[in-house]
Amino acid sequence: MGKRIVVLNGSPRKGGNTSALIDAFREGAEGAGHTVEVFFLQGMDIHGCRGCFGGGKDPDHPCLQRDGMDQIYPAYRAADIVVLASPLYYWNLSGQLRTAFDRLFAVAECDPNYANPRKECALLMAAEGDDFSDVESYYDNLMRHLGWTDRGRVLCGGVMAVGDISGHEDLDEARALGASM
Ligand SMILES: Cc1cc2nc3c(=O)[nH]c(=O)nc-3n(C[C@H](O)[C@H](O)[C@H](O)COP(=O)(O)O)c2cc1C
Repeated sequence: MGKRIVVLNGSPRKGGNTSALIDAFREGAEGAGHTVEVFFLQGMDIHGCRGCFGGGKDPDHPCLQRDGMDQIYPAYRAADIVVLASPLYYWNLSGQLRTAFDRLFAVAECDPNYANPRKECALLMAAEGDDFSDVESYYDNLMRHLGWTDRGRVLCGGVMAVGDISGHEDLDEARALGASM
């Protein structure tokens, strides 16, 4: 049966290298019968978590803030797989992605024990260099803390400008990863 896949695109560049990885991943996943919904976070008016611990009272609107996250919450709740897609920024995920991810805490607040919903996850990243060790460590620990299952990653180094990724073999890897979901 097809799975529901939500992609959080943390790149601010709409036609950038991260987006190219997402497009290839999507092609593979949709070809395999899965449903893919991509959220371009930069264009979504998403505010930082206020740390109020007041969310979780209304599952339809788990956070007290009402902004672009209202589009993501229902898709996130229904998703089988969450794909974190981001350029490497200072050896980590971009601020856009980290900001949106913090706001997912409001969904955990719906549970009396703050349990995070169990998901599968994949990681798509682009970078000028090729040192992904810090972000891989962060991602692996995040999976462990959340109790999520890692389904794979494509980490494309050596790409800086928009379009640098064109024809890169990692696009084939991203397509294959999507198909393998
Ligand atoms: C604020 C900022 C921080 C960056 N930090 C890193 C970094 O730590 N390591 C690296 O290899 N590339 C770094 N880069 C380069 C980007 O990761 C690279 O240009 C990537 O291809 C951008 O992806 P995009 O086209 O999806 O925006 C940085 C770029 C910016 C703008």
